Amino acid sequence: MVWGAINEMTTLQGYRRLEHAARHPLLSKLLHAIVREESAHANFYFQIARLRMTRSEFAQGLARFAVKRFWTPVGQGAKPSVETDYLIATLFAGREGVAVFDRTVSHKIRRLPGFAFEKTITERVSRISLMVEGPVAGDRRRIGPKTPTRHGINKVLRYASGIPFN
Ligand SMILES: [Fe+2]
Repeated sequence: MVWGAINEMTTLQGYRRLEHAARHPLLSKLLHAIVREESAHANFYFQIARLRMTRSEFAQGLARFAVKRFWTPVGQGAKPSVETDYLIATLFAGREGVAVFDRTVSHKIRRLPGFAFEKTITERVSRISLMVEGPVAGDRRRIGPKTPTRHGINKVLRYASGIPFN
């Protein structure tokens, strides 16, 4: 349930960022409707996670272990990481994007029982948003723009609509 809450919140904030970045009268309306829907999903998972973890320290420990050991940003596994990395690096670009992610996702997750010191998800997102390891050890390259560009936003919109990424 914590995993679901993290992913629903990440999706919600991703659509919210896209809504603001798109600045398109029709598209922004559509994205706003999706944001409302995702908000309901995120709230559902968060409330159930809070109930379950309030009742059980074992559940808290198990959830902490699963997130720390296995959590990757939503979409990874289903899509090549170059695509999901680009998506994250565009929607949560640079230090400002990471700060928004931390404030809108991680900060809320820290309110769950046993998660007061959660920092894994912001760290994983910032690793993608700020820098990723290049193919050669020590070769660090920037994969995303510092601030979303129109070109970047168009790529994200194509990705979101299922049109192949290139
Ligand atoms: Fe959802």
